[in-house]
Amino acid sequence: VTRRVTAPDIRARKGGEPIVSLTAYHAHTAAIVDRYADFMLVGDSLGMVMHGMDSTIGVTLEMMIVHGRAVVRGSSQALIVVDMPFGTYEESPSEAFRNAARIMKETACGAVKLEGGARMAETIHFLTERGIPVMAHIGLTPQAVNTMGGFKTQGRDPAHWPVIKADARAVAEAGAFAVVLEGIVEPLAAEITREIDIPTIGIGASRECDGQILVLEDMLGLNPKPPKFVKQYGAVATAIEAAVKAYADDVRTRAFPTDDQVYKLKK
Ligand code: KIV
Ligand code: NA
Repeated sequence: VTRRVTAPDIRARKGGEPIVSLTAYHAHTAAIVDRYADFMLVGDSLGMVMHGMDSTIGVTLEMMIVHGRAVVRGSSQALIVVDMPFGTYEESPSEAFRNAARIMKETACGAVKLEGGARMAETIHFLTERGIPVMAHIGLTPQAVNTMGGFKTQGRDPAHWPVIKADARAVAEAGAFAVVLEGIVEPLAAEITREIDIPTIGIGASRECDGQILVLEDMLGLNPKPPKFVKQYGAVATAIEAAVKAYADDVRTRAFPTDDQVYKLKK
């Protein structure tokens, strides 16, 4: 019998074999990723990927719960982590607990993720003390797009390193079981990985991180404009287009359906 990976299992992987993770938003892709990933993130990037939004700001708790449920149902091994969307946890630890508990009860996921470093430490502590494992997320935090003035790589100026390192230490000390390092210059991501005792999960960070994550649709080749940090492992957009074109041609020429795809009367 296989059991699901747990947040403490991930926490125990610090400095060990690299942790494999990808995003997942729906059941059929989750079932495939489940065979290879240690954890799957139901990321709020689903606002862009699944719903055509231009940032994650408009993503709601209900959207995260609907997709979270689909991914939990479609998988059986990987830890499922669900993102807390913008506006559902920043105001107070009790607001964060209420919404994180709803996510966990309604999806049966194993952990939540929220963005922010030192300023979220009190909330991370509050949740973990009350039974909710928290993955932190620092560096380029997409929910801060409007205060950052765009999606900006962090730590290009070494003068900013102490603040980012303090964020990493704060979330580790607060009890996060792992931390996503997104869009951080490579040498800083490597230093943070050496300096804190919880696993770092890199995206646009460093090969020295304790694990890596990518948005599934980005690495599959479905995103027409992927960020620099994405390596393409597939050409799914090309495959979908070829299939859709072949279907359209078949319908127009009445080559589909054939006798194989229709129901006949019994003799
Ligand atoms: O929403 C998301 O997909 C994420 C990952 C890129 C870390 O937060
Ligand atoms: Na996210």
